[in-house]
Amino acid sequence: MALATSSTITLHVNGERRTLPVDHRTTLLDALRDHLELTGSKKGCDHGQCGACTVLIDGRRAVSCLQFAVAAEGREVTTIEGVADGDTLHPVQQAFIDLDGYQCGYCTPGQICSAIAVIEEHAAGWPSAATEDVRPEAGAPPLDADEIRERMSGNLCRCGAYVSIVQAVARAAEAAQGESAQDKSAQGGDLAGAEAGTAVTA
Ligand code: FES
Ligand code: FES
Repeated sequence: MALATSSTITLHVNGERRTLPVDHRTTLLDALRDHLELTGSKKGCDHGQCGACTVLIDGRRAVSCLQFAVAAEGREVTTIEGVADGDTLHPVQQAFIDLDGYQCGYCTPGQICSAIAVIEEHAAGWPSAATEDVRPEAGAPPLDADEIRERMSGNLCRCGAYVSIVQAVARAAEAAQGESAQDKSAQGGDLAGAEAGTAVTA
């Protein structure tokens, strides 16, 4: 009996259910771009090396060129087209615009998706390879330029816009931290020092 080489799958992309037939070898990147016309995610290397195709899968960043579309069935996929809130840009998008975090823009969708996850990973206390003290009791390290560069190191920019990209990620992280502090304040929480380890110092 011949094995099936294609299937009809349902992907949850940017809050919508999208049903499509795919060859089992189709990557998530090709499914997004060629089947669903979501061309914001870019194909740079197609080998997991450049980060241009970065999307969020269940809130975690992933290079969509190394993921089969069939493996993404049932998971929440967010692409650059889905990060804004209606007409209001995501704070990371806004920071990239305000601080010129791009030149040609080809790497930018991947940079932004990656930065959104970086900020959440840092807020959750995840260390990086640049973190000096990784003991759990040390808390999250300051999100300084070295930390941002390390955490964003999977996203290459052939235009070399790195200086502005680091600044944009730092600004967006500051904004996210301020928002989080406001939320906690509104909830009557004691913020003094509670999140002291998450300072942004880029
Ligand atoms: S296109 Fe996916 S990492 Fe380069
Ligand atoms: S802005 Fe051109 S590749 Fe990054």
